[in-house]
Amino acid sequence: ALIVRHRMKNSSRWSRAMAILKEFEEKCATPIGKLWMVADAMAVEMHAGLASDGGSKLKMLISYVDNLPTGYEKGLFYALDLGGTNFRVLRVQLGGKEKDVKQQAMEAIIPPHLMIGGSNELFDFIAAKLAEFVSSESGDFQLPAGRQRELGFTFSFPVRQTSLASGTLIKWTKGFSIDEMIGEDVVSELTKAMERQGLDMRVTALVNDTVGTLAGGRYSDKDVVSAVILGTGTNAAYVEKAHAIPKWHGLLPKSGEMVINMEWGNFRSSHLPLTDYDLSLDAESLNPGEQIFEKIISGMYLGEILRRVLLRLAEEASLFGDVVPPTLSVPFSLRTPVMSAMHHDSSPDLRVVESKLKEILGVVNTSLKTRKLVVELCHIIARRGARLSAAAIVGILKKQGRDTSTEKQRTVVAMDGGLYEHYSEFSERLEGTLTEMLGETVASTVTVTRATDGSGIGAALLAASHSQYLGTEES
Ligand code: GLC
Repeated sequence: ALIVRHRMKNSSRWSRAMAILKEFEEKCATPIGKLWMVADAMAVEMHAGLASDGGSKLKMLISYVDNLPTGYEKGLFYALDLGGTNFRVLRVQLGGKEKDVKQQAMEAIIPPHLMIGGSNELFDFIAAKLAEFVSSESGDFQLPAGRQRELGFTFSFPVRQTSLASGTLIKWTKGFSIDEMIGEDVVSELTKAMERQGLDMRVTALVNDTVGTLAGGRYSDKDVVSAVILGTGTNAAYVEKAHAIPKWHGLLPKSGEMVINMEWGNFRSSHLPLTDYDLSLDAESLNPGEQIFEKIISGMYLGEILRRVLLRLAEEASLFGDVVPPTLSVPFSLRTPVMSAMHHDSSPDLRVVESKLKEILGVVNTSLKTRKLVVELCHIIARRGARLSAAAIVGILKKQGRDTSTEKQRTVVAMDGGLYEHYSEFSERLEGTLTEMLGETVASTVTVTRATDGSGIGAALLAASHSQYLGTEES
């Protein structure tokens, strides 16, 4: 009798688990009709955000980049990339029209306490790393005598630019939260920190990572007209016609164009498939009510969504036995790279899933059935994110009038970010969805190119094209 009771209990646990799974799957569904509504809503919000400040959740920020790299940029430039889990410094020697580019980079992890501490602490840390890197400059990289070093600063948060080389922070995203920085000029903070380090360097371009990626992408392919980041956070930038930006009251640029940083992470629409897990994730986040699109798509959050579903399964269906694994209750204990590793497990008995559950959650002796369920959850979460990202890209194509063209107009989207780069189930699904939405003919004119670390090069290129020494060059 004991055994029978036990078995019955197990089977009711399992049916509870299945019910939770099924409900989650339904709530995350992204049928093609819904994706089109998301794409349409994106295009509508783009118009609204361009019409006036505050006109939409999409900030549609003016980047002051009205000329993208030509390929003639020349000289030694630095770039500094702050905005995700890692931060990078880059040294680039641009070769002019031959386009031979030499580069060296150094990467560091931002200590988490600096992401939520004081402004000076963060900027001192960055400036110190930069100074250290500059001091290792050697023969291959040459600064003409008497010149000040110049830097392109990629700062991947929403910034209200006041010129190409200045701008104030609107808000933090992605786990950063330093209140005293809000409303402050990002470039002057960095400049002061560099001075404190005794580093003589001038910021000649302040760019979002999407804008940097667009610039870097354009340098290698003239048909690049937009850039998307799918990493810790998510966002896009694209080339807009200057006369189609009602809120721009400045002179119309000669090029007739302006790069817009959409800040699409803050997109929100009633068409987005949101679940209770997403709502509680948002409510408990550092920025409740903000960056809703980002919170269902980007690398910082996918693993956290999975953790929340697993926690519910552990609590209500005893998925991992009678006790809920304590780590499962710790926010952000399940990172997206771990989710990705489990999702890509191709071993028949799901050994990777088994070892990750053990390593991360301390769960041993999982059944194959349980491990399959975990993979299914990864699939649901990643698929929703990838399909919505594709819909958002279609929204941009629509705004640019490139969603229907069948003539031989190439459209290239430069793509960067760890999620896209490392999570192939995600990136392949995204590309498949683009084709599904656009149809083969149009889709064949749209190319997504991987622009790995394009934003660093892009920032250096923009620093070069806005150098204080421009026009003093011999060539
Ligand atoms: C966040 C930031 C945005 C950035 C994106 C990708 O959404 O707000 O500025 O481009 O992350 O790094």
